[in-house]
Amino acid sequence: MLHSIDSEILFLKQEDVIAAGLLDMKQVLAAVEKTYQLLGNGHIKNPPKVRTRIPDDDNWQSFFNSMPCYIGGDVNIAGIKWAAESKKNAVTPGIPYGIDVTILSDPETVLPFCILDGTLITAMRTSAVGGLLAKYTAPSNTKAATLVGAGVIGRTMVMAVCEAIPTLEKIYLCDLDLPKAQAVAAEYGPEYAKKYGVEIIPTSDSKGSALQSQLIVTETTARRPFVDSSWLTPGCGLVSMASDEVELDVVRKADVICIDYWKQMITYEGKAVTRLYQNGELDQNGVSELGDLVLGRKTGRTRDDQFVFATSMGIGALDILVGYEMYKNAVKAGIGTKVRLWDKPLWE
Ligand SMILES: NC(=O)c1ccc[n+]([C@@H]2O[C@H](COP(=O)([O-])OP(=O)(O)OC[C@H]3O[C@@H](n4cnc5c(N)ncnc54)[C@H](O)[C@@H]3O)[C@@H](O)[C@H]2O)c1
Repeated sequence: MLHSIDSEILFLKQEDVIAAGLLDMKQVLAAVEKTYQLLGNGHIKNPPKVRTRIPDDDNWQSFFNSMPCYIGGDVNIAGIKWAAESKKNAVTPGIPYGIDVTILSDPETVLPFCILDGTLITAMRTSAVGGLLAKYTAPSNTKAATLVGAGVIGRTMVMAVCEAIPTLEKIYLCDLDLPKAQAVAAEYGPEYAKKYGVEIIPTSDSKGSALQSQLIVTETTARRPFVDSSWLTPGCGLVSMASDEVELDVVRKADVICIDYWKQMITYEGKAVTRLYQNGELDQNGVSELGDLVLGRKTGRTRDDQFVFATSMGIGALDILVGYEMYKNAVKAGIGTKVRLWDKPLWE
C-alpha cells in the first residue's frame, strides 16, 4: 500500500491490467505526453537501460533490460520495468516476443506497492510514443500511412496513428508474414472504419506502400537496415521504433530529426542516430527531443516539404507512469490480487 509501512502489494495480471483500462489508447497517449513533459522539466530520473544479452552482444538470442526510474513532480513514485525479448518466442506460437514485468515502489518507504504485467503496457506505450512522434513528423493533411511490422507493436501502432493523425484515411499494414497483417486488418478493419474512417490494407509490399504514403512507421524485428533513401517521397515523415531498420543515409537526408531521449539513445550501438553521433556527424543540437517538443521549446516539422525522421528507444518512466495510472484505476474498481512481501519482517 502506497505511503504506509504495510507490505501489501497489489498484483495485476494481464487480464486485470486490461480491465483497468489499458487498451484505451487516448488515456495512454495522455500519460505518455505527461511523461515527456515531466522529463523535459527535469522531474524524472531515468538512467539509461542496462542490457544483459544472452549468450553475448553479437549473437544474442534473448535479452533482459533493467529500466529503473523515479518520477517526481505531482506523481512521486519510483519503479522499474524488467523488459525481455526472445528470438525463439518470435517463432513459438502461444508466447509473445517481448515479455515485461513492472514494479511500482513508494520512494519514501521504498516498499513495492504494485507488481503488474508490463507486456501490454510496453506495447501500448511504445506505440503511443510512435503516435506522438508521428504528430511531429507527418506532413499536414496526411491521408495514407504505411506501418511496417504487424506484430504486437504493429497492432497497437494502428491504434496510435489513428488517434494521433486525425486526417488519416488509409493504413497499409505490411509484414513479410502476410497472413499476420491480414489477421490484424480483419480484426480491426470494421471497427477502425467506423470509429476513425480509416481503411486498413494488409500487404507484404512495404516499399510500394511507403511510396504511396505521407507517413511511414516501422516496428519490425529486422536485424539489418531495410529502409533506404529510395523509400522516401518529398515531404514524407518516417518514424522508426526498432534498432536496425534504417540506413545511415536516410537519417543524413533528414531536415529535422526527432528522438525520444538523447542521453539514452547515444548509449545504444545499433541505432542509426547513435552511429552518426559516434562518427561525429550528429550532436544533441542536431535533434529535437520529445521532452522539448511537448513543451514547445523545439519544433518538429515546420514545413510540408521537409523530410522528417524520428526514432525512439523507450524509457522506463513511460511504463511506470502508465502502470501507475492502471494501478489507480484498479484500486478504484477493486481489481487485482493482494499479496504480501512479509507478514512481519524478520529483522529490522
Ligand atoms: N522503441 C521502443 O520503445 C520499443 C519498445 C518495445 C519494442 N520495440 C521494438 O519493436 C519491434 C517489434 O516488436 P514486436 O513485439 O511487435 O515484435 P513481433 O515479433 O510481435 O512483430 C515483429 C514483426 O515484424 C515483422 N518483420 C520483421 N522484419 C520485417 C521486415 N523487414 N519487413 C516487414 N516486416 C518485418 C515480423 O514478421 C513480425 O510480424 C522489436 O524490434 C522491438 O525491439 C521498441
